[in-house]
Amino acid sequence: MAASRAILFFFTLSSLAAIISAHNITDILSGFTEYSQFNSFLSQTKLADEINSRQTITVLVLNNGALSSVTAKHPLSVIKNALSLLVLLDYYDPPKLHQISKGTTLTTTLYQATGNAPGNLGFVNITDLQGGKVGFGSAASGSKLDSSYTKSVKQIPYNISVLEISAPIIAPGILTAPPPTADVNITALLEKAGCKTFSSLVVSSGVIKTYQLAIDKGLTIFAPSDEAFKARGVPDLNKLTSAEVVSLLQYHAAARYIPVGTLKTTKDPISTLATSGGGKYDLSVTTAGDSVTLHTGVDSSRISDTVLDSTPLAIFTVDNVLLPTELFGNSPSPLPAPEPVSSLSPAPVSLAPAPAVEAPSPVAASPLAPAMETPMGGPADAPAVEAEHSTSDKGAGSHVMVSAVSAVLFTWSAIVISSIVLS
Ligand SMILES: *[C@@H]1O[C@H](CO)[C@@H](O)[C@H](O)[C@H]1NC(C)=O
Ligand SMILES: *[C@@H]1O[C@H](CO)[C@@H](O)[C@H](O)[C@H]1NC(C)=O
Ligand SMILES: *[C@@H]1O[C@H](CO)[C@@H](O)[C@H](O)[C@H]1NC(C)=O
Ligand SMILES: *[C@@H]1O[C@H](CO)[C@@H](O)[C@H](O)[C@H]1NC(C)=O
Repeated sequence: MAASRAILFFFTLSSLAAIISAHNITDILSGFTEYSQFNSFLSQTKLADEINSRQTITVLVLNNGALSSVTAKHPLSVIKNALSLLVLLDYYDPPKLHQISKGTTLTTTLYQATGNAPGNLGFVNITDLQGGKVGFGSAASGSKLDSSYTKSVKQIPYNISVLEISAPIIAPGILTAPPPTADVNITALLEKAGCKTFSSLVVSSGVIKTYQLAIDKGLTIFAPSDEAFKARGVPDLNKLTSAEVVSLLQYHAAARYIPVGTLKTTKDPISTLATSGGGKYDLSVTTAGDSVTLHTGVDSSRISDTVLDSTPLAIFTVDNVLLPTELFGNSPSPLPAPEPVSSLSPAPVSLAPAPAVEAPSPVAASPLAPAMETPMGGPADAPAVEAEHSTSDKGAGSHVMVSAVSAVLFTWSAIVISSIVLS
């Protein structure tokens, strides 16, 4: 039953990894004054959160002198793109730099992963040059290897490696992209992203002005898709007063820049533009692997796509209209009973730090139930379930068993984690 054990291990690990980050780049660099500027920009651009929420990563750092050519005369959005090209989504320690097969490779960076890079501009060329020198350059054809490895700063094998390089890696066009300003056409972006209903509500209610005024200081918009407005359970907006519509639309935005890496590492509730003090109209966030879910207290919604991530503005699409408790919490009418939520979604898990028995279990509710005779109450029961598995039917039955067991273990580990987080 090595396979099922591996699956259990995987689920436990991946749910742990979602919440507890293994490294803290801000902390790692804090001991080095020569990287103080680099460290400060990682925090300002929120790249630090993105780095901390990932595993198997290499950060190419620049000392304060080398960094100044990028930071001196460019806006934060450009600095963020330039720095995200220095975050490699693979683990390179000094020995590995010299063991690159055929002496040259292209590696993916965070710039590529965040979708801001056109073509292969988000890849970096690493080449083992003669004389033990390792060169770095943009993967764009015709680029020179303008930067080279200078020294190792820190390794936590195989989670994070921090290496110093001599100069920034500049992809064509990366320094000339215009920053988003109050002129950015939010409506056009929303329409293109399939959020026409939301876009027209934002315009007709006048909330677009609130959004535009907020951009300079940081703005994040969670835009429900057109399908979200057609879904069952969405209140009839015609029954709301115009003040309530304004609150609802303000609730779909936060007055700060929160890219996805930051959402993943956020533990405190997020204030929205509708928040006027007293913690009202806020959102909470849970993460499971790469999936980020917002919770209102009434419903929850997955973040589905990034429409724009350009400091200081982030726009995401969400699958559901976010319904604040302040407007819909105890209203009997426009909301029908909430639909049952799958227990694999983070919602019920994080809202129920109660014993596992009370958590809605896919196993108990599903036709797989007969396979699961052992009551589940805690960690001690997991091996029992596992042992029973080894004596149960082979073939198809054992696949069923494997997924049932991993579902239980996943729920259990998520509950354990949520109690850690809540305590
Ligand atoms: C690497 O990350 C994993 C998963 O987060 C963690 O369990 C492990 O302890 C980390 N390794 C080190 C050496 O910190
Ligand atoms: C990372 O380290 C910095 C500096 O030591 C600290 O201020 C910050 O709270 C840490 N972040 C996390 C998520 O632990
Ligand atoms: C990396 O750049 C060098 C120099 O321009 C080039 O010769 C090499 O083919 C490139 N490597 C890859 C994998 O494209
Ligand atoms: C923004 O885009 C919308 C829809 O594409 C368009 O109707 C509007 O005129 C544009 N606004 C500005 C200020 O360009």
